[in-house]
Amino acid sequence: MRWILALLLGSVLLLSSFATALQYEVSGTRKGVPIPKEQIKFAPYQFGRSKNNNPRAEVPKSMRIKRGNPTSSSANWCGAVNHTPTSNKIKSIHAFWQVPGCTKRTGHTYPQGAAVWTGIDGNTWTSALLQSGTVCKIDNSTAVARHEAWWQWVPDVAYTITSMPLAIGDWVEITINTTSDTSATIKFDNISQDEQNIITVVSGPTLARKDADWVVERPYFGSSLAGFPKFDTTWFEDAYAVRQTGANLGILGATQYHIPSLCNSTEYDNFNAVSYSLPV
Ligand SMILES: *[C@@H]1O[C@H](CO)[C@@H](O)[C@H](O)[C@H]1NC(C)=O
Ligand SMILES: *[C@@H]1O[C@H](CO)[C@@H](O)[C@H](O)[C@H]1NC(C)=O
Ligand SMILES: *[C@@H]1O[C@H](CO)[C@@H](O)[C@H](O)[C@H]1NC(C)=O
Ligand SMILES: *[C@@H]1O[C@H](CO)[C@@H](O)[C@H](O)[C@H]1NC(C)=O
Repeated sequence: MRWILALLLGSVLLLSSFATALQYEVSGTRKGVPIPKEQIKFAPYQFGRSKNNNPRAEVPKSMRIKRGNPTSSSANWCGAVNHTPTSNKIKSIHAFWQVPGCTKRTGHTYPQGAAVWTGIDGNTWTSALLQSGTVCKIDNSTAVARHEAWWQWVPDVAYTITSMPLAIGDWVEITINTTSDTSATIKFDNISQDEQNIITVVSGPTLARKDADWVVERPYFGSSLAGFPKFDTTWFEDAYAVRQTGANLGILGATQYHIPSLCNSTEYDNFNAVSYSLPV
């Protein structure tokens, strides 16, 4: 989320000096019927807001089978990151997942947050990252978890889609279609409720469109890492990126990032990957 590049680029990058006003439009449908624009609401992302804490089906641990991808550690990314040369750019990226619950991790400061997202760039291309996903947050020692939908074109700020509340276990589907290095549509679909929002951004920071990401992230809070709660095992399903030519980019051959002692990720097959909280 918002603070990721501060880590990737070190302390030289002052994010706020890069933040510009993005130009974007939104539209949406609910059960096939257009949602009046004024009912689709965004707010600058912050820790706090939204609600829900419903039980969620567990994924059998035995499904974590293969381990053939290269692995790498990160302070804040836990997931699969694949690459394509800029001679064959990513056109769009896609994934489904179920909104994971999270519980507070003893010894970590508040707020605690685990953000699940898919996006383009931010790994080998560090000056921009287009991403959208969900986040589970615990603001204080009351341990009440909150869930939000959000999108961000880093280094611009993140936006919470406040008009789309999340519940644990809801299926979300995210498709980000780029129409150039600086324009894209983000489709955030609430499968469980048949509600979708489409955000069209016409002037974003320049992407290279070479990194495909399916990640659970420990976000930054200000200049420090937020506490990282324990979270329900999260499957990225139907995870693929469409490229300008040739086969879709999937999970096989991706680098599996882990956050030491906190989160591991692994591939299942070319279109399914999992991130899970440690210790299991
Ligand atoms: C703790 O967080 C919960 C959920 O975010 C909030 O409702 C409550 O007001 C907070 N309490 C304090 C003391 O900040
Ligand atoms: C879908 O929308 C419904 C109704 O607004 C809400 O209750 C639910 O939590 C939402 N789920 C997701 C994943 O957006
Ligand atoms: C994204 O592109 C796919 C494939 O071209 C298309 O099916 C889908 O409708 C597009 N979504 C958006 C939000 O533009
Ligand atoms: C976590 O990932 C590391 C590196 O991929 C691996 O060596 C370790 O066995 C994993 N631990 C668990 C509990 O899955």
